[in-house]
Amino acid sequence: MTALTSLELRTKITSDARLELWLEEAAVPRPTAGEVVVRVDAAPINPSDIILLLGPADLSTLEVRGTPERPVLTASVPDSALPALAARLDAALPVGNEGAGVVVDAGSKVRHLIGRLVAFRSAAGTYAQHRVVAAADCMALPEGVSAEAGASAFINPLTALAMVETMRREGHTALVHTAAASNLGQMLNRLCLTDGIELVNIVRNSKQADLLRNIGAKYVPDSTSAGFQEDLTTALDETGATLAFDAIGGGTMAETILVAMEAIATKKMAQYSRYGSPVHKQIYLYGVLDAGPTIIHRRFGTAWGVGGWLMTWCLDKFGAQVAAKLRERVAAELTTTFASRYSSKVTLVEAMEPEVIRQYAKRATGEKFLMLPNGRSVDDGATGANV
Ligand SMILES: NC(=O)c1ccc[n+]([C@@H]2O[C@H](COP(=O)([O-])OP(=O)(O)OC[C@H]3O[C@@H](n4cnc5c(N)ncnc54)[C@H](OP(=O)(O)O)[C@@H]3O)[C@@H](O)[C@H]2O)c1
Repeated sequence: MTALTSLELRTKITSDARLELWLEEAAVPRPTAGEVVVRVDAAPINPSDIILLLGPADLSTLEVRGTPERPVLTASVPDSALPALAARLDAALPVGNEGAGVVVDAGSKVRHLIGRLVAFRSAAGTYAQHRVVAAADCMALPEGVSAEAGASAFINPLTALAMVETMRREGHTALVHTAAASNLGQMLNRLCLTDGIELVNIVRNSKQADLLRNIGAKYVPDSTSAGFQEDLTTALDETGATLAFDAIGGGTMAETILVAMEAIATKKMAQYSRYGSPVHKQIYLYGVLDAGPTIIHRRFGTAWGVGGWLMTWCLDKFGAQVAAKLRERVAAELTTTFASRYSSKVTLVEAMEPEVIRQYAKRATGEKFLMLPNGRSVDDGATGANV
């Protein structure tokens, strides 16, 4: 096979407080025995990719230079944000956590994968035309599943499954989820409905509440409605949920949930205790949709925890066997429980247009973007197994 090159998106935040985005032509290394070369046909733009891609840049200052085929974007970054970015300053970083495409070359041990359509994850960035990946990090897509349908097979599906697994392992029986109309939130609803798990969905407008009710959600407290506190308390009482996954992170949501959980737990105590209820209440801050400080006034007894949570580290903790089982379930339910929808599809160059950036940076409900690193022409109808 002739040497391949790959056009790839890079992001950098400089020590003089500037964001730079550009496309770089990189040589594609030959795969080692257990690796494959994937032509990346589709890759979602997830909130965690947006954080890496744009950092805290002021998007009103975006400027385009370069040429139409090779744009170079810059924007200013607030000086106050630099200390927290120290570990990435002046480094050119690849972006994109997951994607799907056709295997176009493979090492000696995995040559049977050539021609297969796979989903994969890669720390080396999926906003690239080609990516060399360990075959173990790929999921062969089932028959009939396209690259587009498989592009989000790793992050959100495995996160929803890992949330449920965490719930079981830590002795809880029901879940609370915030920013619940997200792509992940909709998936979690389908999963919980299938598995018979009670789920309390906290949303921030009535449109989101309707969206979730239409897919079968029973408990959907709206944080902007007058009856929020009461609706949340009723939902927690009826479900017995003592574990919450909070994607918002900043603000007072974690405190609000803990207060409501504690009120229910103390109501069930036969006797007053100055230490509050012994029932453990746990909040995992697993997203940074609000990058402001997490505000917690401790008014919910002593049996509680607030911590960070990352799907990847959870899967490592669960072990290879459990992780493989979860992946098998994702593959089997990719077009049902774990289906993702996209509002727009963009090429590498289109993804660098300021107006487009401002749109996907909103991370709005139902507005997930799909990157097509090899352009639209690649949509050749390839689907899993039968390629
Ligand atoms: N820790 C992990 O392992 C892990 C793994 C996967 C995903 N995640 C996180 O999961 C979250 C959801 O991901 P996704 O891909 O499903 O996102 P998505 O489909 O892009 O949806 C984002 C949702 O967040 C809402 N939102 C945005 N800013 C908000 C704010 N300040 N307060 C409340 N809601 C807000 C949006 O609602 P509006 O329309 O109202 O703005 C939208 O419903 C993200 O935070 C992501 O980083 C974490």
